[in-house]
Amino acid sequence: MDQETAQRLVDSVPEWHHGFEIFPGVSTPGTYQCASVLERLELPDDLSGCSVLDIGCADGFFSMVCAQRGAEVTGLDYRSREGTGFAVMEQITGLEFRHIRDNLWNLPQHGLAQFDLVLFLGVLYHLPDPYRGLNIAAAHCRQALYLESACETIEVAGKTAGAPLLEFTPGRSWNGDITNFWRPNPACLRAMVEDVEFEIQRELVGPLRMVIHATRAADEMLERRRRVAYGLHPV
Ligand SMILES: C[S@@+](CC[C@H](N)C(=O)[O-])C[C@H]1O[C@@H](n2cnc3c(N)ncnc32)[C@H](O)[C@@H]1O
Repeated sequence: MDQETAQRLVDSVPEWHHGFEIFPGVSTPGTYQCASVLERLELPDDLSGCSVLDIGCADGFFSMVCAQRGAEVTGLDYRSREGTGFAVMEQITGLEFRHIRDNLWNLPQHGLAQFDLVLFLGVLYHLPDPYRGLNIAAAHCRQALYLESACETIEVAGKTAGAPLLEFTPGRSWNGDITNFWRPNPACLRAMVEDVEFEIQRELVGPLRMVIHATRAADEMLERRRRVAYGLHPV
């Protein structure tokens, strides 16, 4: 493929979310600067032999990086390959992916085996039920979970300082974006990750975002608590 063809393909996508160099000298016009997020994530350099699930894969920047590092990648998004830049990313890079167009809530019905790594990036605060969403992500993860989220990094002084808080953001109240439902604070993201039986290995807070790398840590009591709460276990 030459630069002109790559540019033409990039231009054929009506809207890019991810901004990154997709081909030498050709960048996608997305406003989300993926390179700096990737740096913050510190994903392993070598993912040979690993399976990766990229939840909310959008234009596929993070799927692409994992595939380039040797992983077998499944992307999930309720938007289609063609409705995002994902199809063009596949065409330009020549990399192969499984792409599931579905809502996260339906993921358990696909009967997929667990993945070595699950990327849950930029999705949690878009979900009306973030705990349930994280629980689904965690259930599909055998080893390492990477969570990235918008969050409130300004600590409120007083009685609730340090408490795990999730603020409801009705309608367009958060940046006019109707897809935003809940704004967690760092303590909340930590507590939620631990509650779905993961142990935090590394975290990076701020500004207004948080990254958590966590690994599986079984706790029967926590598992039972969720199963009972979701009606999957006799009380
Ligand atoms: C803010 S973008 C994040 C994209 C990418 N993960 C990143 O971090 O750059 C959120 C993505 O998740 C998808 N999404 C949001 N809620 C979803 C749901 N319930 N099921 C499937 N995809 C969802 C959106 O379509 C969008 O592509």
